Amino acid sequence: MGDHRQTFSAADTPITYLGLDFSTQQLKGVIVDDKLEKLYEAAVHFDTELQEFHTHGGVLRDKEKPREVTAPTVMWVKALDVLLDRLQVCGADLNTVAAVSGSGQQHGTVYWTNGSQKTLKSLDPSGFLHTQLASCFSIVNSPVWMDSSTTKQCRKLEEAVGGPQRLADITGSKAYERFSGPQIAKMAESKPGAYQNTERISLVSSFGCSLFLGDFAPIDWSDGSGMNLMDVRTKKWSETCLEACAPGLESRLGPTVASGTDLGAISDYYVERFGFNPECRVVSFTGDNPASLAGLCLSKNDVAISLGTSDTLFLSLNEPKCLTEGHVLASPIDKDAYMVLLCFKNGSLTRERLRNLYANESWDDFNTLLERTPRGNFGHLGLYFDEQEIIPWIQGDYRFDKSDVPMDKFPSREIEIKALVEGQFIAKRAHAEQLGFKIEPKTRIIATGGASTNSALLQVLSDVFNAPVYIQEGANSAVLGAAYQAKHGLMRDQNSKDELFQSVVSTLEPPKLACSPHKDAYQIYTPMVERYNNIIKQVLSDIAK
Ligand code: XUL
Repeated sequence: MGDHRQTFSAADTPITYLGLDFSTQQLKGVIVDDKLEKLYEAAVHFDTELQEFHTHGGVLRDKEKPREVTAPTVMWVKALDVLLDRLQVCGADLNTVAAVSGSGQQHGTVYWTNGSQKTLKSLDPSGFLHTQLASCFSIVNSPVWMDSSTTKQCRKLEEAVGGPQRLADITGSKAYERFSGPQIAKMAESKPGAYQNTERISLVSSFGCSLFLGDFAPIDWSDGSGMNLMDVRTKKWSETCLEACAPGLESRLGPTVASGTDLGAISDYYVERFGFNPECRVVSFTGDNPASLAGLCLSKNDVAISLGTSDTLFLSLNEPKCLTEGHVLASPIDKDAYMVLLCFKNGSLTRERLRNLYANESWDDFNTLLERTPRGNFGHLGLYFDEQEIIPWIQGDYRFDKSDVPMDKFPSREIEIKALVEGQFIAKRAHAEQLGFKIEPKTRIIATGGASTNSALLQVLSDVFNAPVYIQEGANSAVLGAAYQAKHGLMRDQNSKDELFQSVVSTLEPPKLACSPHKDAYQIYTPMVERYNNIIKQVLSDIAK
């Protein structure tokens, strides 16, 4: 494939790259220059700007079936019509775009009806996309990642392969309700006619990619790892998993492809309607979490931690362990590496509850209290799970003294606050280590999300991981990652490794150092991680009784 940019005929004009993010609440687009600096950005907000689809937070819920969550597929198509118009209105010259790539909310599925490939291949540039594709979907609403209605299908899939650990060994995760395999299984069971009429099943990412390619785009390895259907090591569909989910699934899924693959030239539709260059390439789209890994320019040894309503941690590893907690995905930027993804439900809301209880509803007071007790909190360890936590599967408050004896309350407000923050970060380190992460001298923590502006919080994070913490604005990391991947896609080849991606993004400003660990941090927190692991085992076995 080589460096396609050499032949890009817009040679006298600046080269740009387009990244898109089909996220839950909006479609975002960004155009960057050859140094990956942002030139233009635009967004289409589903609830407020495409009101005819009646979504709330970008999704639809049925009062009768609260666990079912979907989004109107055509809404995403219409959003693309609007977004491209909007980018042009901003002044973007789409003729300079050398490559486009994208990201999509993970796990969601799109069902293309028989004959839709033909429609995709013969789009008429004088008409809107959404009117031409309106009847291309065998079900009008796509199940998305917030859906949790497939417990029955999850158990069936796990049984078929020999249990949750076995499924994790194959696909990188035990069965999860939101994952695409169980979702497809439910669709095939509950709407057999529509399933029969389905020509291709896309993920939200490969669906977005198909729109640009004017043909069905393959599912990329990284987003394909969020389906419970792909062997995460061989990158092939697992026959046992396919059979356990639905008949005739392999032909409906089509092939898989390495993330960041140059799939071909952009469809003529975009050349004629929006003035794209006919040589503009379409690079495979991926999931929003993998795209964020690219957008944060995460290298080996880095850990990204997003501190928001829920906290997310991800990192890149060569040899991860697949467990029944956490997810192992194929890396979006290195064909031999993996991405570990951990989602913790109890993040900012739990921090806020304790702030309100013990720190006069003030973050300043919270931080003062946090800094008042020494590292290690006199041996006190606390775990606070307001919502049913995912990792570990526990709910409620748990407090322990230095000998791991349970306590009802800690002796002071500052001990409560410190226990909360230390406990949240100790849990993150413990679970990352279980999946194979090791703290190395080069380890960096890249903090993003709302709470990453709180330096007292970041100091504890730095100490618990014994690593410096850097701050990166994370709000747009998925869409930026997609734009970076567009450039990377033109330069990579079959053997693409992390080093190439790092050289592609080397023109960008590095993230800012926020804090470094104290000298005694490793000795203090390593035994506490050990204690956390033992305590969790005990609590889980008490719950199981
Ligand atoms: C990850 C997950 C969400 C979605 C939506 O497993 O379900 O993060 O990708 O953003």
